[in-house]
Amino acid sequence: MARVYNWQIGRKMSYWYGETRPKKQFAAVFDTNKCIACQTCTLACKTTWTSGRGQEYMFWNNVESKPYGSYPLAYDSRILETLGPQLWNGGKYEGRTIFEAAPAGERVLGFSPATVDYAHPNVGEDEIKGTVDGGMSLDLPQPVWMFYLARICNHCTYPACLAACPRGAIYKRPEDGIVLVDQKNCRGYRECVRACPYKKVFFNSHTRVSEKCIGCFPAGEEGQQPRCFTECIGKIRLRGWISKPSEAREDNPVDYLVHIKKVALPLMPQLGLEPNIYYIPPIHVPEPFLTQLFGPGAARAAETYRHAHENNAKLTSLIKLFGCTTGTIARFKATAKNVSAFDDKGQELVTAPLKEPVMVRTAFDSVHGVPRMNIN
Ligand code: SF4
Ligand code: SF4
Ligand code: F3S
Repeated sequence: MARVYNWQIGRKMSYWYGETRPKKQFAAVFDTNKCIACQTCTLACKTTWTSGRGQEYMFWNNVESKPYGSYPLAYDSRILETLGPQLWNGGKYEGRTIFEAAPAGERVLGFSPATVDYAHPNVGEDEIKGTVDGGMSLDLPQPVWMFYLARICNHCTYPACLAACPRGAIYKRPEDGIVLVDQKNCRGYRECVRACPYKKVFFNSHTRVSEKCIGCFPAGEEGQQPRCFTECIGKIRLRGWISKPSEAREDNPVDYLVHIKKVALPLMPQLGLEPNIYYIPPIHVPEPFLTQLFGPGAARAAETYRHAHENNAKLTSLIKLFGCTTGTIARFKATAKNVSAFDDKGQELVTAPLKEPVMVRTAFDSVHGVPRMNIN
């Protein structure tokens, strides 16, 4: 075991390999407040990558309703319960990671889902926590709540799947930090499936090797965002690159949201993988649940987001850029009227107005001789 620094838990931790960070790290921010669970992302991925034999049960992208939804079944509560107390002291995690809690002779604390655990990807869909009581939904945070959590592979800085494979068949690309299974080298040991706490590696019983989200790297190499991002109806996703905290740039959208405004947080950082999909937490959910899911900064992040329109024009502008371009956004710039996105080479991808003009049409369409249902 090596000692590596994990900034998300504010300390060094044990990991099977030494700390080697890629030249650039694939990263994304998902705004949970905008997700409508239409599952367009899920189907965009399914029809692109997992429509073959042995892939029927796979969802490299899935969207689950929290608190009751999960795919595979109870993947999160099972690992959290097994891990034991998860105490934070400010930004420092004082509990054990899944690498530090590994049983003797194993590299990672994990579990293998049963076949039936994959059978109900929409379990708990749209189920709310608590019961509806007249007028209560006008309060924030709401006593009755649920929200949608879209998930893909986190292309972790310290992947548990990679650490666990005895063949070394999983690797992290040095050019973009995307984590891949080498299909020729894999022998189907399934230690990766057991190790990944997010359960984002899948065994293909037809090919007898494992598969996972590939971050749509062919699109990424062309400067494009992944399929599940470009098809997102709710415009909740932004793909870019993340820097180390000490190298964070104000004009890098992911750095700005994660490191500078601290409004986007990793999923279950206490597990120790330094995952690279970041979430703007929902604003209507009680703090204990948010803290368990996104770490100790979650309540503050939700507050920052809630008040952004009052006191943070730059943050508000950046939020409007989500879903406005199919290109990977390396830089952004906000003015009083517009917000612009730029690619790695500094080429402008899109400029979006901060206020969209409102067009009001007459209620009667005289050309077609019919009343209009929608006039603006
Ligand atoms: Fe591996 Fe799971 Fe991390 Fe993806 S989310 S890199 S599959 S450990
Ligand atoms: Fe699927 Fe690509 Fe999204 Fe991964 S990034 S879940 S491969 S669409
Ligand atoms: Fe390794 Fe997982 Fe294949 S453990 S051998 S990558 S099934």
